[in-house]
Amino acid sequence: MENDLHAPKPQATCHVPVMFQEVLAWLSPRPGQIIVDGTLGGGGHADALLHRVLPGGKILALDRDPDAISRARLRFASFAVHLIQGNFRDLPEILDQLGWECVDGILLDLGMSSDQLSDSSRGFSFFSDGLLDMRFNPQEGEPAWRLVNRLNERALADVIHELGEERFARRIARAIVESRRFQEIKSARELARIIHRVVPRPRFKGIDSATRTFQALRIAVNDELAALQSGLQRFPEIVRPGGRVVVISFHSLEDRIVKEAFRTDPRYSPLTKKPVTPSEQEVASNPRSRSAKLRAAMRT
Ligand SMILES: C[S@@+](CC[C@H](N)C(=O)[O-])C[C@H]1O[C@@H](n2cnc3c(N)ncnc32)[C@H](O)[C@@H]1O
Repeated sequence: MENDLHAPKPQATCHVPVMFQEVLAWLSPRPGQIIVDGTLGGGGHADALLHRVLPGGKILALDRDPDAISRARLRFASFAVHLIQGNFRDLPEILDQLGWECVDGILLDLGMSSDQLSDSSRGFSFFSDGLLDMRFNPQEGEPAWRLVNRLNERALADVIHELGEERFARRIARAIVESRRFQEIKSARELARIIHRVVPRPRFKGIDSATRTFQALRIAVNDELAALQSGLQRFPEIVRPGGRVVVISFHSLEDRIVKEAFRTDPRYSPLTKKPVTPSEQEVASNPRSRSAKLRAAMRT
């Protein structure tokens, strides 16, 4: 296995922000406001938001990933951008520590960034020889390779089926368990090979047959659905009345959580009846945007 854990990290971001204009339209940031970007990533959205809140406003940008924060330190020399490594579910405590009472808006652009996907030492991509780690914060929780070697066949199948919506989950789980009898699965490429052996890759169009399993493992190791659910439950404590919460999700389970929170919590008034999706032009120029769904709500 290639040992690239200590390879220098890329300095510039390669992440193209999705639904850029739609985010600005629905969050509607204005000069003097305080906006939280709860998922900083490469900082594309944060940068656009900063330009809208100046003069007089500021941005609080969070990411669980220390690399995203270091990269953003190079990008944002402005005192108006506060960069904090943390989970958006802890936003009330983070604001408390900063001594800020409330904010005017929150943006979440869920999932992983292209910077994470292209860093082969992180194991997000099935083309990488790096360790199958997949943690947004490599200091926190269990790496995916441990999970893959620890869970029994049934539990593995459940994770892959529920979080990846993969119809071949049982077959994949069986192949994983058979393969690890001989040797622990350590790299992303090894896992992808096992999946490709039992679920053939589509010949022409369509997503790679390992995609859903990788997505499921990433969501599991980062406890992404619980973070989203608890974040949405807590945001109304810190968003001022009339302020906005905008969420871009890439997975039907995430979108369901957002839809339900905005519909059932009386502290939210949904602004989008149906999810807003990217234009055909955007999907053509940035295929990563194809499954994006944006929902917005106002704090009542
Ligand atoms: C799709 S990217 C965001 C891209 C960003 N909007 C941009 O314009 O470049 C998602 C980012 O959110 C981070 N992330 C995911 N869940 C998080 C959470 N619960 N708290 C904080 N950051 C999170 C990931 O580490 C990743 O860097």
